[in-house]
Amino acid sequence: MKTVRTAQELSEAIEALRAEGRSVGFVPTMGALHAGHVSLVERAKAENDAVVVSVFVNPTQFNNPDDLRTYPRTEEADCEKLAAAGVDIAFLPGVEDIYPEPDTRVFDLGPVADVMEGAMRPGHFNGVAQVVSRLFRMVNPDRAYFGEKDFQQIAVIRRMVEIEGFDIEIVACPIKREDDGLALSSRNVRLSADQRALAPGIHRVLAESVADARSHSVAEVKKAVAEAINAIDGMEVEYYEIVNPNDMQPVAEWPDGEAVGCVTVYMGDVRLIDNIKYPIA
Ligand code: PAF
Repeated sequence: MKTVRTAQELSEAIEALRAEGRSVGFVPTMGALHAGHVSLVERAKAENDAVVVSVFVNPTQFNNPDDLRTYPRTEEADCEKLAAAGVDIAFLPGVEDIYPEPDTRVFDLGPVADVMEGAMRPGHFNGVAQVVSRLFRMVNPDRAYFGEKDFQQIAVIRRMVEIEGFDIEIVACPIKREDDGLALSSRNVRLSADQRALAPGIHRVLAESVADARSHSVAEVKKAVAEAINAIDGMEVEYYEIVNPNDMQPVAEWPDGEAVGCVTVYMGDVRLIDNIKYPIA
């Protein structure tokens, strides 16, 4: 694995791959890598000749300075995992490499970015669009891989790709879970032992609600899910929304196709997100 830190080094490494005619799969990350990230790398390896992974904690997508400060940074362990997973290029830039000057662009991301995370974390998705567009320009991949745990983020990135006119395929990959159902997240390491023991309750409640959806309205399922998660010791639901997966807009009735329930839960100051698909039809 080649490890590069500057835009210049990255561009030389990518040029060498392209000179060999190799297709490039790209996995952008903020580090603190876990098996979920490794599954994205595996998928990228299966579908491309070479894989590039970036590790960059992007300051412009954090609207809470404490969240940025406490975000786990584990560069050495990350590089070991990436090398073991067979990554070709690990890109570990500093802030000055990604933002040689401040990025003042405001993306017209539209309705997909207005609800849920967009409503709760003003500026977050604009920051994601800024960094991913910069990384896409630098890496110029054929395909880029994102986990469905951040379900809304994928819709936002697709919209950014449309705005910027990138010819890059966005590949959505299924959520990776611990054996007890907890969605893998870099934030899980911040849970205390007691919180960690209770955290799988989020997925359990969501999974159980899929059967309820056959005999209950959207409003009833939303209420029951929020109440059941709030009843777990130390959990506070920030939002639970059931949306159309294409435009992220809340649905009032079960659609013929798929709907997706997206939840954000606070356990102390740790913010966990998860989602579930409702196949009603
Ligand atoms: O999902 C993430 O880890 C980040 O939002 C991303 C896509 C790497 C951009 O910083």
